[in-house]
Amino acid sequence: MAKLPGNAGVSVLGDKSLEFYRDPVGFCRQRVEKHRSRVFQCRLLNRPTAFICSVQGMRELLSEKSSLFLKDPTDLMTNMYGDTVVTANGEEACLLRLSLTSLFAGSCLESSSDYITSVCERCLKDLSLSGQPACVYSSFKRLGTELVLGLFLNVQADEQPELYQEIVQLCTQHWHGLISAPVNVKVPLWSSGFSTALDARDKLMDIIKDKLENDTQGFVGRLGSLPLPDSNSASQHLLLFISALIPKALASLLTSFTLALSGNEQEKTRRRAMEDPDYLHRVLLEVQRLWPPFIGGRRIADQDATLAGLHVPKGYGAIYISHSVHRDPEVFQQPDSFLPERWSGRNAGQEHFLCSFGSGPRSCIGIKLTNFFLKLECLPILQPACLCQCV
Ligand code: HEM
Repeated sequence: MAKLPGNAGVSVLGDKSLEFYRDPVGFCRQRVEKHRSRVFQCRLLNRPTAFICSVQGMRELLSEKSSLFLKDPTDLMTNMYGDTVVTANGEEACLLRLSLTSLFAGSCLESSSDYITSVCERCLKDLSLSGQPACVYSSFKRLGTELVLGLFLNVQADEQPELYQEIVQLCTQHWHGLISAPVNVKVPLWSSGFSTALDARDKLMDIIKDKLENDTQGFVGRLGSLPLPDSNSASQHLLLFISALIPKALASLLTSFTLALSGNEQEKTRRRAMEDPDYLHRVLLEVQRLWPPFIGGRRIADQDATLAGLHVPKGYGAIYISHSVHRDPEVFQQPDSFLPERWSGRNAGQEHFLCSFGSGPRSCIGIKLTNFFLKLECLPILQPACLCQCV
C-alpha cells in the first residue's frame, strides 16, 4: 500500500501548525505542487496528519469511511463550548443529531421567515441609504448576529438593546479565546485572552440558562423541551449556536457573493440571479465553492485505513481543506474561474462534491437554515442601490 507523500516530522520541532494557520491555502498549494499529490502528510497540532485536498479523499473521509475516522473529543471546541454534538462520536452523536435536526426542520424555518425578512430589510436598507461606501463584511456580520440572537435566544436588538449589546460583547470575547493560545492565566490587572474568554463563556451561560428556564417561546422553548442527554446539553448547544462562528461564516459568504457580483461586467449575471431562483442557487453554489468560509474539519483515524489509495496509520489526524477540495481539477474544470453555469452543465447534480458545510453523516445541521437565510438576504443585495455602496 502506498505511503502518504511528505513528512510527519519529529514531535514539537517538526510541527507545522503555525505555518498552516497563517496561510492554509498557500500551505496546501505549495505541498500539492511539491508532492504532485492532493493527499499528503505533515505534523499538525503535534500529530502526524493526512491533508486531504481532493474530492475523492474528502468523500472517503466524510462519507464512505466515516466510521473509521472519528471526531477529536480533546479539540479546542470542547474547551470553549463544553460537550456538544460537534465533538461527540458514535451513538451519542447520532442521538444528538436526531434531536437537534428537528429544530431546523421545514415548519420551524417557515415560522422564522417574517423575522428574517424584517431584519434583512432593515439592515440592508441602512446599507443602501447611508449614501457612503460601507465595509460590507462588518455590516453582514451585524446582520448575522441580529439573526442568530433573535432566532435562537429571542433577544432582539431593537427590543432589548442593553442585553443585546452585552451578549454581543461577551460573544466577541468568547470567540477571541478560540483563536488565542489555550493558557488560562490571571494575575492582578492582566488576564490572558483565553482566561477572559472563559469568563465570558460563564457569563453567557448564565444568560442562556436564565432564558432556557424562563422562555418557553420559539427556538429556546423547543430546545429546552428536547430529550437531551444531560442538564447542561441544551445550554452548551445554545452557546454554540449563538457564538460568533455563524455570523462570521454568513458574513464571509455574503461578502464573497457581493464581490463576485459587483462591477458593470456582472450586470447580466445580477439581473439573471434576481429573475431566476435556480440561477441564484447556482451562483451561491459557485460562491461557496470558490470561497468556503471555514478551512474544513479534522478527524482522527480509529484504525489503519486508506484515503485515496494511501495508507493512513491508526492515530493519525486527517484534515480536509475545503478551498483545495473545491479546486480539484479532476472534478472542476477551470477550477479558479467563477462559472455558475457549471452547475447546470458538467457539474450538474454534483453538489455533494462540495464540503463548505462538511459532508456525509456529520455534515452541518444548520445547512437548510443557512440556505434559507442566504436566499432571503441575497435578493436585496442585488438591488443596484445596495451594490453601489459596497466596498
Ligand atoms: C454559513 C454558515 C455555516 C457554515 C459554513 C457551516 C459549516 C459547517 C461545517 C464545515 C461543518 C462540518 C465540520 C466537520 O466536518 O468537522 C458543520 C457542522 C455543524 N454545523 Fe454548521 N455551518 C454553518 C451554519 C450552521 C448553523 C446555522 C448551525 C446551527 C444553528 C450549524 C450547526 C452545526 C453543527 C451542530 C455541526 C456539527 C454536526 C456534527 O458534528 O454532527 N451550522 N458546519
